[in-house]
Amino acid sequence: MCGIVGYVGSQQSEGAVIEGLRRMEYRGYDSAGIAVVADGTLTVRKKAGKLANLDKVISEEPLPASTTGIGHTRWATHGGPSDHNAHPHLGATGRVALVHNGIIENFAELRAQLEADGHILVSETDTEVAVHLLEAAVVAGADLTTAMQDVCRRLEGAFTFVAVDAQDPSRIVGARRNSPLVVGLGDGENFLGSDVAAFIEHTRDALELGQDQVVTITASDVAVTGFDGTPSEGRRYHVDWDLSAAQKDGHDWFMRKEIHEQPRAVADALLGRRGVDGRLQLDEMRLSDQELRDIDKIIIIAAGTSFYAGMVAKYAIEHWCRIPVEVELSSEFRYRDPIVDYSTLVVAISQSGETADTLQAIRHARAQRSKVLAICNTNGSTIPRESDAVIYMHAGPEIGVASTKGYVTQLVACYLLALYLAQVKGTRYGDEITQVVEQLEAIPAQIEKVLAKAEDIYRLARHHVDSRSFLFLGRHAGYPVALEGALKLKELAYLHAEGFAAGELKHGPIALVEPGLPVLCIVPPRGRDQLHDKMLSGIQEVRARGAHTIVLAEEGDDRIAPYADELVTLPRVPVLLQPLVAVIPLQLFACELASAMGHDVDQPRNLAKSVTVE
Ligand code: F6R
Repeated sequence: MCGIVGYVGSQQSEGAVIEGLRRMEYRGYDSAGIAVVADGTLTVRKKAGKLANLDKVISEEPLPASTTGIGHTRWATHGGPSDHNAHPHLGATGRVALVHNGIIENFAELRAQLEADGHILVSETDTEVAVHLLEAAVVAGADLTTAMQDVCRRLEGAFTFVAVDAQDPSRIVGARRNSPLVVGLGDGENFLGSDVAAFIEHTRDALELGQDQVVTITASDVAVTGFDGTPSEGRRYHVDWDLSAAQKDGHDWFMRKEIHEQPRAVADALLGRRGVDGRLQLDEMRLSDQELRDIDKIIIIAAGTSFYAGMVAKYAIEHWCRIPVEVELSSEFRYRDPIVDYSTLVVAISQSGETADTLQAIRHARAQRSKVLAICNTNGSTIPRESDAVIYMHAGPEIGVASTKGYVTQLVACYLLALYLAQVKGTRYGDEITQVVEQLEAIPAQIEKVLAKAEDIYRLARHHVDSRSFLFLGRHAGYPVALEGALKLKELAYLHAEGFAAGELKHGPIALVEPGLPVLCIVPPRGRDQLHDKMLSGIQEVRARGAHTIVLAEEGDDRIAPYADELVTLPRVPVLLQPLVAVIPLQLFACELASAMGHDVDQPRNLAKSVTVE
């Protein structure tokens, strides 16, 4: 969380930094700020609230012309979202400005030392400690790069920094530990950003920084070192998506655009996965067949929506591969002394690749000699870099804070992993695997069919604009979908919404049902008759108590219709793949309901896209 941008080149830095921040705003929007260097002086503008507030400040008090600038959009950790806690922060003499993402864990001790030395700190942030230390080193004669290396060695915790020295305007210095930072390589200009969206308008050539590295950029040069000053090199790569992918394309919300992009995203996630012999191939699977055969247990770790994707993966992997799978919240994993060893495969699912809870969990797993496979969307992010293997989701940039295409492409990656393991372990015949891959390849067209009925779902959502509580019921792979549907509604519409396994209803939650309560029910496809019929009983139970049932069932399911106050039909797909189509109406429903309630769908309150603190 928190978005960071830096620019040095021949253009006006204000434009590059503010535009970069606009695309970084999904990472946090509690406050925003910019610092530019002109004539040996720093000028800072910063303001609590969204970037629009900063725009207003700048229009009232324009910035001087400058070709070097840094900026920040904040998700508050230490210190509330106020003007004085907004970044950039300045050192004691106003010579050095710094922006920060992360948490400095030993900041209280450092702050006490600084105050004992006579420093006056004006904010409640941990960041200000770092800039005071940095500027003190510069004033004592170090160049900004050396000063940054020195300061980083003294800090504990997670941080990305970008800093500028008013007396050395030709360079910007960045550093990272456990928090993201990438370099954008331009022609006569260079950029720093929390991710490539910060500079994608200017260049698609990027340099990925490793853990504990410091980078110095000038208009024409990029130099990387370790925190100890040893020269190092980042990994260069080319970004294969462009600016249009980071814009709304005529939709009112990024989220709505991303929901509609899902057929393409699923198709992209499946692209190139079949070799000439028809067998599945996963390019970034760096684990050998023998290593995969030796696995006797899988633990999936993830947070939020990614956790719900992991729950679906359990059904698929256990069914196709006959390997026991546990699914665990990454924030809980390392604190319960988990039993993992070299024969355990830990699968970390993370759209951003930067979620701190998940990152710490994989480090714990690797320390116990487990193999770690990441399912991730963001090339160059920390989690895949620290994993033994990775399956990229290829969803393209997800800007809306609530995950949509991230979720469905995570599901696709999980199915591919399950099928690949079945292929390697020989638990399924090749024909069977090919058949499921073909069923997956048919999914984009089936999602299109659901999207074609978006207006009906929007009408339904608007009809419920005054409802204050919702239940979601599912069974089997539909159960995690119920949880995901409830989460979408909570985070976007700020309403009470709970998901349950339908069979659990009578063990307690049915007490919540009262006349008029909307209950969204995900009905398994026919064919798995027991499941289908059990779900039917669950629907009858809530309806008998006056619930208003909104039923998602496959087309032609005539037995369900009499029990549905509202019926949303889904295309016919196998039960294990049903989450891919069943989640779409739930995403549309939450998006429209929140929009009708007047909420900011792309930037829900209190949330950030990339949660880089534990
Ligand atoms: C909900 C949502 C979050 C994320 C969670 C994990 O819509 O987006 O629950 O799924 O914060 O994020 P990643 O996948 O980036 O690790």
